[in-house]
Amino acid sequence: MRDSTHPSSLSTLQPAPLLLGVCDYPEHVDPASWPEHARQQRALGLRFVRLAEFAWSRLEPRPGEFDWAWLDRAIEVAVAAGLQVVLCTPTAAPPAWLVEAHPEILPVGRDGRRRTAGSRRHADLSSPAFREASVRITQAMAERYGSHPALIGWQTDNEFGWGDTAQGFTPAAQAAFQAWLRGRYGTTDALNDAWGNVFWSMEYSDWTQIPLPGQGVSASSPSHVLDFMRFSSAQVAAFQADQVTLLRQHSPGRFVTHNFMGFFSAFDHYEVAAGLDFAAWDNYPTGTLGALDEWKLLDPAFALTYARTGHPDVTAFNHDLYRGLTGAGRGLWILEQQCGQVDWAPSNPLPAPGAVNLWTAQAWAHGADAVTYFRWQAATMAQEILHSGLLRHDGTPDRGAAEVAGTDPARYPCVPVRNRVALLHDYESLWLYGAQPHAQHLNYWAQVFTYYRELRRLGVDVDILHPDSPLDRYDLIVAPALTLMTPERARHLRAAAGHSRVVFGPRTAFRTASGRAAQTAPGGLLAQLTGARLQNFDSLPVGLPQSVGGHRADLWAESYVPEDPATEVLHRYEGGPLDGEAAVTRRGLVTLIGAHSPGLIGEVLAGALRAANIPTLDLPEGVRLSRRGEVTLLQNWNAQPVTWCALELAPVSTTFLRTAEVQARAAPHLHPSPGTPPAASAEPRLREST
Ligand code: GAL
Repeated sequence: MRDSTHPSSLSTLQPAPLLLGVCDYPEHVDPASWPEHARQQRALGLRFVRLAEFAWSRLEPRPGEFDWAWLDRAIEVAVAAGLQVVLCTPTAAPPAWLVEAHPEILPVGRDGRRRTAGSRRHADLSSPAFREASVRITQAMAERYGSHPALIGWQTDNEFGWGDTAQGFTPAAQAAFQAWLRGRYGTTDALNDAWGNVFWSMEYSDWTQIPLPGQGVSASSPSHVLDFMRFSSAQVAAFQADQVTLLRQHSPGRFVTHNFMGFFSAFDHYEVAAGLDFAAWDNYPTGTLGALDEWKLLDPAFALTYARTGHPDVTAFNHDLYRGLTGAGRGLWILEQQCGQVDWAPSNPLPAPGAVNLWTAQAWAHGADAVTYFRWQAATMAQEILHSGLLRHDGTPDRGAAEVAGTDPARYPCVPVRNRVALLHDYESLWLYGAQPHAQHLNYWAQVFTYYRELRRLGVDVDILHPDSPLDRYDLIVAPALTLMTPERARHLRAAAGHSRVVFGPRTAFRTASGRAAQTAPGGLLAQLTGARLQNFDSLPVGLPQSVGGHRADLWAESYVPEDPATEVLHRYEGGPLDGEAAVTRRGLVTLIGAHSPGLIGEVLAGALRAANIPTLDLPEGVRLSRRGEVTLLQNWNAQPVTWCALELAPVSTTFLRTAEVQARAAPHLHPSPGTPPAASAEPRLREST
């Protein structure tokens, strides 16, 4: 292990240690190997196995006929070795007999083509036959295993929406969408009015006339898209709720969660997570690096630096998002985590030595109470032969296994995560960005992530929350892309701005709840709060920057007219069509940033943090701090050593610090908060004495 020594002061803490487990698929290997596998799992320090994820064809080989013998035995073997069990409902992989009996369950893609079986997720959530079959297998499993003493919890299904399946385009989906619209609007006149259907004669006089979006000659109306996304979320939530009800009924005292995917947009995760005990997600750091490249946020000079680790802020962002999905303080699990190379990115490099530990430690620091490695043994068959596991195809331990064996869970006490900064995230705003992007490389995620990355670069830990969550305990609230505004939300934010500093990004409050432009002056519902009105917005092609306050804005620049004598203009645009117009305004505790400029955003956020008395640092590229309770991790994600603050950080390494020490010494020393006396020592001493 590359971790430095554990502070002795932590030994007095008694919270549960980080729980380690593995995704195992005993049905993929010879049963004769099960006892030895279970023994090896325990010897590696694993405490549980996640089973049955896609095992529907083995559990219900014929309709209504169940075969439990193999899973009974697999659980028995795990228990004999001292392992606990997480079970999955296997509904992400419908068996061939179900498709044969009900071909209408097969999904239809956006291209209008019906998909076939022979892969996974080949089912339309609007299909009554599929819903019925899912309920039957869930009920049977819950009755069989719900009270098993070794069972600690359930994962519903697997990665809802994978393979672009959250949006259904079958006739059943269309009928369900029309019924959902009827429930929402009551009359087609009300719907026509909400969507603005007079535009291009899109007015409907009967519900059955309403098509699914995305299949017309040109783009669909953003209101149509927005409601379809809301409907799709409701379908996913209802599908899962059927399972959750049964699991709660037959499996009391066990948790129920779901493994979501990073940066996934196709349903409202807050709505889908609402009935769960906590959220979980699947963490594949090298695979998700591609997102940054796509958003032009990966400096080409660093593309290879992160090829073998992924980017620290990408994984941290998703940890923080999913930790906040069920509200702050409910916990987080990682139900799949890469422990070697993946098989689904354009290229799939081996992780750097130390990367598995780096990811595990980071997951813990950002709130994970459990990390489940994917997968036990590399598959010798089918679609994922090239994906690694903790064991190679021949059963010998692969590189990741040694790092897991060297992980001491006791070093990771699972205390609650408490942060002072909230970043607001809203799927409805995300969908509106997607429906009318207006800027090629600046999608919702890219904009929100830019603010998050600047906060992390400043050494700050962040809670990512739904905008309507309680915000009382935060000192700084950052809302980078809250384009959908309702009167209730505006009231909530006004109340928050009574006690906290708030920073808004571009396109704030530009849309109503039905996706139309705000009818009053754009920014209308928040204009009183920001003291500014939108003047112009400029979508900048790559290579056509806009100067602003000594920085360069790319992709997006919008300007404001100050409307209130108390509104100060902090930065103005220089040159170009926005010359002299306000780019950043502040009124009281509320700041509005219109320019998409990481440098400027970082500067404004640093000012707001210091004004809120939150110490800031200036962390080098690839070096990040993450606090959980009394421990702060200092991680170096670079392939090279870095010297920071008199500390030598080895490549791909984690250094354990005492949180109190970081706060009391390093932060005030590096960036004094107003009025804070400088630290006595000239050089901050961060490393714990051992
Ligand atoms: C996830 C999935 C796993 C496996 C893994 C490969 O999407 O849940 O079953 O396919 O990716 O990285």
